[in-house]
Amino acid sequence: MAERKRLSARNHQEAYDLWASHFDDPALMTNRDNRATLKKMTHIAERLPISPDARLLDVGPGDGTLFRLLAPRVARCCGVDPSAAAVAKLESLLQDHENVEFRVGTAAAIPFEDDTFDIVVINSVLHMFETRDHIVEAMRDLARVCKADGAIYVGELPFRSELGKGVLRHLGRKLYEYGFVAFARLMSTIYLKPVLRGEPILTYPMTNLFVPMADFVALSADLGFQVQHWRHREWRRPSLTRNDYLLSHASPNGDPSPNS
Ligand SMILES: C[S@@+](CC[C@H](N)C(=O)[O-])C[C@H]1O[C@@H](n2cnc3c(N)ncnc32)[C@H](O)[C@@H]1O
Repeated sequence: MAERKRLSARNHQEAYDLWASHFDDPALMTNRDNRATLKKMTHIAERLPISPDARLLDVGPGDGTLFRLLAPRVARCCGVDPSAAAVAKLESLLQDHENVEFRVGTAAAIPFEDDTFDIVVINSVLHMFETRDHIVEAMRDLARVCKADGAIYVGELPFRSELGKGVLRHLGRKLYEYGFVAFARLMSTIYLKPVLRGEPILTYPMTNLFVPMADFVALSADLGFQVQHWRHREWRRPSLTRNDYLLSHASPNGDPSPNS
């Protein structure tokens, strides 16, 4: 049996620096509920308003699961991540894709020119920030690099406290959202299998930042965006704690209709 490694990080950048070398390591990646993740990512990639000639930016691509599904659908697919190790690993994993580019940077200081992208994606990232002001700062920079007729997809933004009432309640919500079978598989792949197989487990800081929908709609409006709330009813129960949004520039003749 392989020696068990415990990968502990003090912050999210450090977590991804540690995790990056394992992005193509089946032992660690089986720790994730890949089936559910892939299903959701595919669902997102298929529904985003992207055309084959689009330039797309994925902010905080992580292990690149969503990025890989998006890259074949667009002319240019760029990723920005604060973890230099993650960027280097993604560059090497996707070296055969001619239309991709990764740069080190953060959501609040995106290393691209103004008005560069037709679509900007930021999925499961903003809740890692320390304060809501940091989220606003990031949203400003996402808006800066997005073209006037472009769109921004903000996924997995908690709209209420996920940990304030305790970890057990948080797990109870996940059980409801996923259903028993998927939840059991998730728990088993994250905890049980690695323990039984002596595989590495990554731990990183749990954060509790959230933005209620009304606040998010207001801050988006300040930036000149109107918001569609995406409810992924097609693939699972709606999340009890997180929202997904598609932002487009406000049209002169009023609000868009919600797409749900
Ligand atoms: C949970 S992963 C999300 C990965 C991917 N977007 C997904 O949905 O699976 C969080 C990602 O956000 C990145 N990240 C953390 N802080 C960030 C920041 N300030 N700006 C941009 N990305 C950040 C991490 O390095 C990591 O790649």
